[in-house]
Amino acid sequence: MIFDRVKSLDAILATAGKKALPRTLGAFHLTMLGVGAIIGTGIFVLTAEAAQKAGPGMMVSFVIAGAVCAVAALCYAELAAMVPVSGSAYTYTYAVLGELFAWMVGWALVLEYAIAAGAVSVGWSGYVVGLLSHVAGIDLPASLTLGPAAGGVINLPAALIALAVTALLVVGTTESARVNAVLVCVKIVALTAFIALALPVMRAENFEPFAPLGFGGISAAAASIFFAYVGFDAVSTAAEETRNPQRNMPIGLIGSLGICTVFYMLVSAGVIGTVGAHPLLTPEGAAIHPGSADLTAACDAINNGAVVCSKEALAWTLREIGWPQIGNLVGLAAGIALPSVILMMMFGQTRIFFVMSRDGLLPEVFSSVHPRFKTPHVITIVTGIFVAIFAAFFPVGALADISNSGTLFAFAMVSVAVMVLRRTDPARARPFRTPAVYVIAPVSILGCVYLFFSLSAYTLALFAGWAVLGLAVYFVYSRGHSHLGRGIVEVAEAEPDAPPVPVPPI
Ligand code: ALA
Repeated sequence: MIFDRVKSLDAILATAGKKALPRTLGAFHLTMLGVGAIIGTGIFVLTAEAAQKAGPGMMVSFVIAGAVCAVAALCYAELAAMVPVSGSAYTYTYAVLGELFAWMVGWALVLEYAIAAGAVSVGWSGYVVGLLSHVAGIDLPASLTLGPAAGGVINLPAALIALAVTALLVVGTTESARVNAVLVCVKIVALTAFIALALPVMRAENFEPFAPLGFGGISAAAASIFFAYVGFDAVSTAAEETRNPQRNMPIGLIGSLGICTVFYMLVSAGVIGTVGAHPLLTPEGAAIHPGSADLTAACDAINNGAVVCSKEALAWTLREIGWPQIGNLVGLAAGIALPSVILMMMFGQTRIFFVMSRDGLLPEVFSSVHPRFKTPHVITIVTGIFVAIFAAFFPVGALADISNSGTLFAFAMVSVAVMVLRRTDPARARPFRTPAVYVIAPVSILGCVYLFFSLSAYTLALFAGWAVLGLAVYFVYSRGHSHLGRGIVEVAEAEPDAPPVPVPPI
């Protein structure tokens, strides 16, 4: 039988219960945790990408992506609160849908976390390269700051930041709650400053035509900009440390998503209204593909005089409207804050590999722990090298899209799992129950499927290739080595040497 290997929830709960964490987090803490993990490359960089896909209609894209995240988050939270290992969609799926689906989710989460870390590294590079140029007068050659697809050779700053974050993780850096709080403030102040300066000088005509590429463009931009909301799972995974989770969990999830949505709407309105957000088109009237050498050439032809050409959309916009110093400060804020998003993403990745390895699905060497630093150094270094390679050679939008494909798959599976578990195990205590689950979960699945298929054909092909590779690895290696398959039930997340959560409680 293929579908018979299901981890016992009772076993997970019994093991996890031994190390129950104190319930200290309230709604405000959760919301801050969420905002800290969410705001990043999505708004700071991908705004330009969304503009190239949808024009001013990208404001609708932000709302669609935020709404899908909100319903997915409500499903995620029920399982997170119920299976209180600070784990992820992988563990929930293992306990509900069994090993094969769990493997597929874990495999897809590699896309979510590792590729996202690469995307944020590229986003960081765009801002730092811009800052160097505008503040220090140092213009790095395009060959060293762009990947081959965009007409360069290697994105060196992006690869270097990925390796630097890897080094921090190897020696055991976790971001302290205080640092997270400071970075949340930095990001919020930067976005608020942007909004305050941009909104008063908006011009209504910049919003016309609102959707130059039709609803297809809005959907495509929504599928890409979904990236801007990824990270709220940091909130759900804190479920076991939350006071009164039934009340605080939805406030934290919906609150952080809501705050981000409002910021994203205002920031994108600010960009559209001041500098215009119209896509560059081919002579035939189609949008030029973001991140392509064609777009680089079209931008060169207009002297990079459009926001869709910018690798640092918000700083560029502020410089255009006469606030160059504030633009530099916003760039500095991105430069300071984005590495923490890379850290959280890579952290999530190593943790998932760690658990999959302890479950026997990946080679055991992946979960070996460094004798001095007490970190899973082998898998951290392997992950870091791959992230650096992605960051060096791929454009930010392509990476974000691929990451989204994995995330959307995982979210859809979690939404299925939450309904399945209501049927198969209705009596189990649920510290948080998804409201109207038979409405919310199907809406979440439909939303994920809709965004998934709005991704580019190229992204979907890569996802399919990755899935086939994953199935091959499963049947050739993992199925035979699975501890559960050999009758051993473990909860690796609760083992004493498991890596801690990315951002510890405040
Ligand atoms: N939401 C995170 C970002 O936009 C991943 O960088």
